[in-house]
Amino acid sequence: MRLERLQLGNFKNYAEAKVDFVGNVHCFFGKNGSGKTNLLEAIHYLSFTKGRFLSHDLSNVRHGQDHFFIKGVFEKNEKQVEVICSFAGERKKTMAENGKEYSRFSEHIGKYPLVLVAPDDSELIGEGGEVRRKFFDTLLSQVDKEYLENLMIYQAHVRQRNSLLRMIAERGSIDKDLIDSYNEKIVTSGKILFAKRSEFVKEYLPLLASRYNFLTEGLSEEAGMNYESDLIDIDFKKELQLKLDRDISLGRTSIGVHRDDFLFTLNGYELKRYGSQGQQKSFFIALKLAEFDYLKAHRDVKPLVLLDDIFDKLDDGRIHQLMRLVTSGDFGQIFITDARPDRSLEVLKKEGIKSQNFFVEDGSIGK
Ligand SMILES: Nc1ncnc2c1ncn2[C@@H]1O[C@H](COP(=O)(O)OP(=O)(O)OP(=O)(O)O)[C@@H](O)[C@H]1O
Ligand SMILES: [Mg+2]
Repeated sequence: MRLERLQLGNFKNYAEAKVDFVGNVHCFFGKNGSGKTNLLEAIHYLSFTKGRFLSHDLSNVRHGQDHFFIKGVFEKNEKQVEVICSFAGERKKTMAENGKEYSRFSEHIGKYPLVLVAPDDSELIGEGGEVRRKFFDTLLSQVDKEYLENLMIYQAHVRQRNSLLRMIAERGSIDKDLIDSYNEKIVTSGKILFAKRSEFVKEYLPLLASRYNFLTEGLSEEAGMNYESDLIDIDFKKELQLKLDRDISLGRTSIGVHRDDFLFTLNGYELKRYGSQGQQKSFFIALKLAEFDYLKAHRDVKPLVLLDDIFDKLDDGRIHQLMRLVTSGDFGQIFITDARPDRSLEVLKKEGIKSQNFFVEDGSIGK
């Protein structure tokens, strides 16, 4: 799969832009604030129907305008496909493939797989479980529609149950039937998510370990990941019923897969607590490379890889190792941003990698 063309209208600091991509390695160079990351954000929209960096579509409309559009021409399985995302206000957002609008955005997700590596990915290690759940949810949702559907059902019912709990606390009377019906939905979808996450970890862990090994050039450090869930050793349905009084006083559902976490380790020790900065950086990049491997295995296409500013994050040996890898035959199309062209160009030259270079200035893209 390749992105052959990207066209923007009123997106962030771009009034209009059109780029044709030649080859497989594309670099966007330019000063801080020139609009490099914005281009990756636009590509992200084409894949996920939304941005990565800001969750509000509205803030992506160019200042003073009232709509934006992003158009991508992809080559997929030797056919050309046009994907358009357009936004003209709340409830006026559409996604279309070859002119046909989707009625549900979830139908689009997963068709154009993409892996983004960005500086704030270090949050995957340093922050709380929510960040990790979101990362793995996004990955699983791209390859498994049943996962995505159950996730939506589960999250909606936990939200509804929580507001009901707060209402019960206020009014002092319990609507037992309604609680039971929410519990039912939460238990059914929660168990499916639990089973799928458990299976996923088994498949993903060896990919992660091997990518970490590659990046660290065979240091004897073993990357690990443990799945932690309330559901591991309880009867979920019974426990939900037992915890009802506590949940009412807390005003929220206190057990379930919305509290799951994934614990990262190096040689068995918790990464967050004991890992050095460099080890943590290599780890989150390995997480992303393993994401690529997993998507490729399940979607049968090579995902696009977007590397935002990652050269700042790694030492030279690892940068070279990473560039060697992503430009090897295993990978497909790569988009790189860097505020310091000389650094990237030197790495590319040393590795004998041909790239298409763009120079971004204030929302315009030159060569
Ligand atoms: N809705 C918007 N309308 C107009 N300009 C915007 C909008 N949103 C963001 N910008 C501008 O986009 C620019 C930031 O672009 P971007 O994040 O792509 O920069 P960058 O080239 O990646 O910089 P860095 O090297 O610092 O990461 C800023 O100048 C910001 O003011
Ligand atoms: Mg940037």
